Amino acid sequence: MSQQSPFATTMEIPPAAAKPARVFSGIQPTGELHIGNYLGAVRTWRQQIEEGKDETMFCVVDAHAITVPYDPKDLRKNIDDLCLDLIACGLDPEKTTLFVQSDVREHTELAWYLASVTPMGDLGRMTQFKDKGEGKDFVSTGLFTYPVLMSADILLYKATVVPVGEDQVQHLELARETVRRFNHRFPGEKVSGKKPRPIFVEPKPRLSVTPRIMGLDGESKMSKSKGNTIGLFEHPDSFWKKLSKAYTDPQRLKLTDPGRPEICNIFTMHKAISPKETQDEVVANCTGAKWGCVACKKVLFDNFEKELIPLRTKREALSIEQVRQAMGDGAAKARRIAVETMKEVRQVMGLGSLAT
Ligand code: TRP
Repeated sequence: MSQQSPFATTMEIPPAAAKPARVFSGIQPTGELHIGNYLGAVRTWRQQIEEGKDETMFCVVDAHAITVPYDPKDLRKNIDDLCLDLIACGLDPEKTTLFVQSDVREHTELAWYLASVTPMGDLGRMTQFKDKGEGKDFVSTGLFTYPVLMSADILLYKATVVPVGEDQVQHLELARETVRRFNHRFPGEKVSGKKPRPIFVEPKPRLSVTPRIMGLDGESKMSKSKGNTIGLFEHPDSFWKKLSKAYTDPQRLKLTDPGRPEICNIFTMHKAISPKETQDEVVANCTGAKWGCVACKKVLFDNFEKELIPLRTKREALSIEQVRQAMGDGAAKARRIAVETMKEVRQVMGLGSLAT
């Protein structure tokens, strides 16, 4: 901003800059970070940080990971590994707020309060709840109220933009509805006859432009629970082994059968990672029955390697102590915002003794 001259007779009006968005997203520490997570989410997060237009916050949502049966030792390791991976992927803790959800207790506190304005019927309609709960002997209350905690994650920071995949849009719609319900139910006291500004803002989803990466079996989305993934930091030998066996166009049995790139998961990955010329080459050689699928995968593998080598180098150079320190600092940054929001929330809800 320009400094105002002491001789100025009129106030300088700063140029109207667009208000930066506050971007928030979360990722569960449920196992090895895979190429689907990277292409669909983490890489776009890095791009948003690098653009520097918006304020960004990214959270390892460990409290979401306990809603299905789990082993605490595994969770501990998964949190450490994911934090390492995310920093190695370029989520620079100096440029973004990167933290672990349960380090900021206000998430679970707000979730409880939001639960009081969330009808059970809405939660019962969530497709993720139905998918994850169906046919299980034990379905936790946490799995049912999972979307309430997710709303709390977002609302706690009054985030305006939430990068998510298609499968989370329903949860985000619920978060928006929760904002409307909460603001309506708890508008706060009028100040000198004027209505106060509502506490929460409706967050908007930002859908990833990368089309969904299917699993290696070609049957469903790439997902750890389906065992159809390639780890982002997997050794290049096993990376190639898995990629070379991945499902392609089922109509392409022989080299001389022309392939259909538009339905092939390998081509989807080329589109995400290979330069435009390579993508054009793939289309020509696949539809023209010139390249076999293995040759096409080899080109893809080489392009993955180009992208991943620097990330691997970075990962090797990081120590877990360094990473934990960075996560602690990230939580402290996040907490500063969370504490302020919770003061407002308790106030409009009429909670507390007012002693603190
Ligand atoms: N439910 C999200 C997922 O499984 C993870 C998540 C938790 C999240 N809290 C969030 C995403 C808040 C965006 C914003 O992918």
